[in-house]
Amino acid sequence: MTNDLADTTDGLAFVLYRSAARDGLGKDDLQAILASARERNGQHGITGCLHHEDGLFFQWLEGPAEKIDLVMAMIRKDGRHDQLTVLDDGALNQRRFRDWHMRFSDRNQKSLMDWLAQSDASTVNPGEYTRGIVAFLQALAI
Ligand SMILES: Cc1cc2nc3c(=O)[nH]c(=O)nc-3n(C[C@H](O)[C@H](O)[C@H](O)COP(=O)(O)O)c2cc1C
Repeated sequence: MTNDLADTTDGLAFVLYRSAARDGLGKDDLQAILASARERNGQHGITGCLHHEDGLFFQWLEGPAEKIDLVMAMIRKDGRHDQLTVLDDGALNQRRFRDWHMRFSDRNQKSLMDWLAQSDASTVNPGEYTRGIVAFLQALAI
């Protein structure tokens, strides 16, 4: 299996979703999620980030389109979260998180809720809400 991120842009896709963490999800659960995510993402050439705050997950995944579909199908079935809503998906010209098989952040790094509240982006307008989240995740990655 290839682990080469110097991939061509052919078939590079992304998905951004939000989900609700299962009640009582703890640090151990998060560690377990990240361990399996990083292992499988490494095998599939998937990179991205996961932000956890106020009982919500926000995840950006990018990689070969067919691998994104495969991993998203598993993630959708995962009982550690529910109410998964895809905020945006599509083709991607180049990776935004190429250094992370799954970067993790939470309120301790920076608060997404505060960021959205302070930004000009309307959280009612879906496009602006999504762009605000992506800008937040990318700003964290610098
Ligand atoms: C919020 C969340 C994010 C996840 N992200 C990934 C991911 O990026 N890649 C991945 O392979 N698995 C991810 N997972 C875990 C898979 O859903 C899970 O590993 C899969 O269902 C298979 O279970 P296993 O870990 O027992 O093999 C995530 C799970 C949750 C709850």
